Amino acid sequence: MKHFDSMVRLSSADVSEILKLAADIKSRVRQGDRPRLLGGRVMTLVFEKPSLRTRVSFEAAVAQLGGSSLFLTNADAGLSGRESVADVARVLGTYSDWIVLRTFSHKLVDQFVQHAGCPVINGLSDQGHPCQALSDLLTLQETLGALAGKTLAFVGDGNNVARSLAVACALTGMKFTLAAPAGYQLAADFLEIIKQKVPTAELSQTTDPRAAVAGADAVYTDVWASMGQEAEQDKRKQVFAPYQVNAALMARAPKHARFMHCLPARRNMEVTDEVLDGPSSIAIAQAENRMHAARGILLWLLDVKSP
Ligand code: CP
Repeated sequence: MKHFDSMVRLSSADVSEILKLAADIKSRVRQGDRPRLLGGRVMTLVFEKPSLRTRVSFEAAVAQLGGSSLFLTNADAGLSGRESVADVARVLGTYSDWIVLRTFSHKLVDQFVQHAGCPVINGLSDQGHPCQALSDLLTLQETLGALAGKTLAFVGDGNNVARSLAVACALTGMKFTLAAPAGYQLAADFLEIIKQKVPTAELSQTTDPRAAVAGADAVYTDVWASMGQEAEQDKRKQVFAPYQVNAALMARAPKHARFMHCLPARRNMEVTDEVLDGPSSIAIAQAENRMHAARGILLWLLDVKSP
């Protein structure tokens, strides 16, 4: 059974296939064609954290193709101690064609993969945000053309979004550079896992944001304190201040470089209004593509071919 729980689980061929499905169905939907490829299918979402893009993009994606969705908080689902995780996963799996999870701990995703008996989608965990990374590849492909050989510079915390993007870049032949303070970079053992999977992967890290963006086709950032790290907000604000993506930093990147953000943004913290709302920004296209990528993921997981 296929799952979409981690970019590391995917092959380059899987990523190409999902991107093709997503791009094909995006083109059809834009022309007003909404084929009922998922008629009668049910998607269950179980979220421990708030969400705008992930929740609504998946719910819209399945509805547009004739399916339906159910949204549960972790308390609704009984994951606050009412019954065992394995029992919740087994029961929900009998009602669902896919389960989308948004969790604090990736362990919950692993438990659902083990017990649910239906495809499980990671809608963000502490370890990764593969749905975001996949849709970012779609946006990059539309914006820059062929991905191989292009460079993505991620400026900020080596968080779940950065981790999934590093793998996504490796799988598509893109170069990935992270600029982050010492202590906030990607762990050596995680980089080793990527290198084992894709020996040709070009991954680098630096503490210098200006060095990272020089030569970048895309400059990406995310909030400095992710959900669950609110207590570290003040410390992180100081540590990451030199990593703000502003006009001066973007001026160090090639003229054609695009600015990317997964949103939600803390405006004038990790990115200035000028950059986020400026002509190089493709942040809203990224958000829209969450829905188009979601359709590709849903179709791919059930081996539904777009006729
Ligand atoms: N980028 C993203 O995952 O947005 P939400 O938190 O709104 O789902």
